[in-house]
Order: sequence, then C-alpha cells, then structure tokens
Amino acid sequence: MRTVEILEKKRDGGVLAADEIHFLVEGYCEGTIPDYQMAAFAMAVVWHGMTFEETLALTEAMIDSGDTIDCRGLGKKSIDKHSTGGVGDKTTLVVAPLVASLGYAVPKLSGRGLGHTGGTIDKLESIPGYRTSLNQETFLGIVQRIGVAVASPTENIVPADKLLYALRDATATVRSLPLIASSIMSKKLAVATDAISLDVKVGEGAFFHTIAEARDFAHLAIRIGDTMGRRVHCMLSAMDAPLGHAIGNALEVQEAIATLHGMGPEDFVAVCESAALSMLHALEPGLNEEEGISRIRDAIASGRAWSVFREWIAAQGGDVRTLDDPSLLPQASRTIDVAAPHDGTISAVHALMLGHLAMTLGAGRETKEDSIDPSAGIVLHVTPGTAVRAGDVMATLYTSLTGDESQWVEQLRAACPLEKMPSHAAPSPILEMIGA
Ligand code: URA
Repeated sequence: MRTVEILEKKRDGGVLAADEIHFLVEGYCEGTIPDYQMAAFAMAVVWHGMTFEETLALTEAMIDSGDTIDCRGLGKKSIDKHSTGGVGDKTTLVVAPLVASLGYAVPKLSGRGLGHTGGTIDKLESIPGYRTSLNQETFLGIVQRIGVAVASPTENIVPADKLLYALRDATATVRSLPLIASSIMSKKLAVATDAISLDVKVGEGAFFHTIAEARDFAHLAIRIGDTMGRRVHCMLSAMDAPLGHAIGNALEVQEAIATLHGMGPEDFVAVCESAALSMLHALEPGLNEEEGISRIRDAIASGRAWSVFREWIAAQGGDVRTLDDPSLLPQASRTIDVAAPHDGTISAVHALMLGHLAMTLGAGRETKEDSIDPSAGIVLHVTPGTAVRAGDVMATLYTSLTGDESQWVEQLRAACPLEKMPSHAAPSPILEMIGA
C-alpha cells in the first residue's frame, strides 16, 4: 500500500477501506508515516468527513495501537463515564462513588486539564497522597474491592490518539466529528466495561458550541458503541456558565464533598443526578426513571455514596483526614473578594472567561508542561439571574500569586455582567438524554 495513494483517495472524497485506515494508523505509530502525511490525512477528513464504516475502522485501529484493559469479569456490571469537559466539572468525584455504592463497578481512566478546562486527575491530586499512577492489577483490585478507581492512563493506552491529537491540535484539525468520535470512543472502548455514559457538554465553555453538534456526536458515539457490543447512553448538558460554584482543583474537591453530604449547589446536583441516571440507563436497559432517581437520592441521603468516596480515596493513598476536614486541603495564601460595582442582575456567567481567569490565578495549565497550584481558583457567589446590590460579593478569588489584583477583579466583573433586568432562576443545565 502506498500512503500517497491513500491520501489522494481521501483528498478526492473517496471512501477508504478498513485496511487502508489501519495501515495509516499503524504506520504513524511506528514512525514510517511522518507527521506531514498524517496531517494531510486529518485535513482531508476535516473537509470530506468519514462514512460510519471509516469512522469505525479508525476507532478500531486506534484501540489496536496499544493495550486494553478488560473490566468485565469483576463480578458486577461495570460502567465507564466520560465528560467532554468544561469549567468547574467535578461530576466524576460525586457520581463515580455514588454509582459504585449502588453495586456497580466504575473503573475510570481520566486526563489532566489543559487550557480553560480542568481535569479530574488534577482535582484528585489536590488530595494529599492520592496516587493517580496505578498498575493494572492494583487498579482492577481497587475496583473489585471498593467499586471505583480513577487513575491516569498509562502511555500505552491508545498511543495513536496521543500522537494524532497532538498533531490535530497543531494543524487546526481538531474540529471534525469522525476524528473527535474516534478519539473519544477509542479511549473509552480500550477500557472494556459493560456500558459507557457520556456527558456531552454544549455551550461557549465546551467543545461543542451548538446542541446540533452535540447531538450528532452523541448519535455517532452510541452507534460506534453499539456496533462494538457496548451500550452507550448520553446526557447533553449546558456549559455556558461554570458547573457549580467552585472552579479550581482543591476548591472543586470541597464542593464535591459538600454535594456527597447532600449540600451541593442546585445546578451541580442536577447534573450529578442526571449523569448517574444516564449511567443507570446504560447499565440497565428499561430502567424505570423514577426508581433510578430514588436510588440515586437515597445513595446520597443514606451516606453510602460518601462512605464509598472515602474508601476509594483511602485505597488510592489519599489522606482522608483532608476529606473530613477540608481546611486541611491545600489553601491559597490570598483570597480576594470581588464586589458588584453597582446594582443589577447577573445576565450571564461566562464559563470560558472564568476558566481563563482560574488558569491565570494558577489553577490550570496553558501548556502540558506547566505546573498547577491545587489551591488556586474561584468561588462564585452568584448564578445567572441573581440580583445584587453595589458592594455585594459576587465571587472570591483564590491564589498564591503576588501582584496586582485589579486585572483579575476586572476580568471577573467582565465575566459576570450586570444589567437592569428582573432577577430570575438560573436555567437547568440538563438539555437532553439520548439512549441507544
Ligand atoms: N477530546 C478528545 O479526547 N478527543 C478529541 O478529539 C476531542 C476532545
């Protein structure tokens, strides 16, 4: 097979055969196909798209590029959960132990944050002692014993995606439905669970800006899963405003702890309940929705979800004293209250701007090599629709950086504009549930 001929075919809108796609992915991983040829392939896909069969072949080729972990023989049904990412998204910290407390296995490999979005692994690492790097035996052992483990993927889980994603990032070829779906689904399918639930975020702070794009992705992911014998269920949720009040690693852990104690912010509780319901739908076809919600609420109210959370964190080496007394979690040396400059109603709380501000305060990384400050971030005291008076505190900034705070204050105010309008309840973040 000649790479140039495959590229010509795709450039001209042809349909590639599965073995041609496998040839490209294998060659790229082995180094016999250089970056510039793979970039040409990615750009041709951006322009011409892929048929379902091509997308499936790409997903399979990516899975075949590395190791797989089978989590299906653990004596209970297993489920993986994935969020396409957003600002303040700490849902895994609540729903993974919650669903485990209902008798399922939740093995999860998670990534680090980059840019304005946070990563679950960074949030967990803000708990002193928590180990994110586990070998397969330890990982599966914790899942079997406790019901949940969350670790970083090893280098050899879908290595093709690591290479291809970095290349796409540098060649403006990230935004392509088949490339996104094969990238996400290959990583989910490489950790073989009985079912998969996807939280597809929609909005300015998310990967998908319109509900139509999110729906297309959900349907494609469900079809890929179905063809490969895995049940996928999707929740579409809004990411125009940050999720919950806290943005930043240790601050988000504190908010997750409060939520596990039944004291979470309304929007975050709604997303946790729907994400857990989506997981139950994926696990139990024909689930009665009311019964599902009642099991979910009972797991929180009874304290069972909280107990599993503590056991899981302890099993991965985390210091549980910091969970019982969150003042022992990393603390920023500076807190800055940002007051409303005049009376008004918060017309929007812009997730993207706040994600960037949290990153500036030290909570996120601009490049993969940057280190982060686990204590840095923002706690919001307003939601879209809140009426404030001049001088009311809209948010508190947490940082250990020295320097002039006026720019940060201005950025926060720009992200939470005030208008003359009646106050109103914040809209529900739950947009749609899509099953097989
Ligand atoms: N997230 C991924 O893992 N891959 C993509 O292509 C886009 C978002």
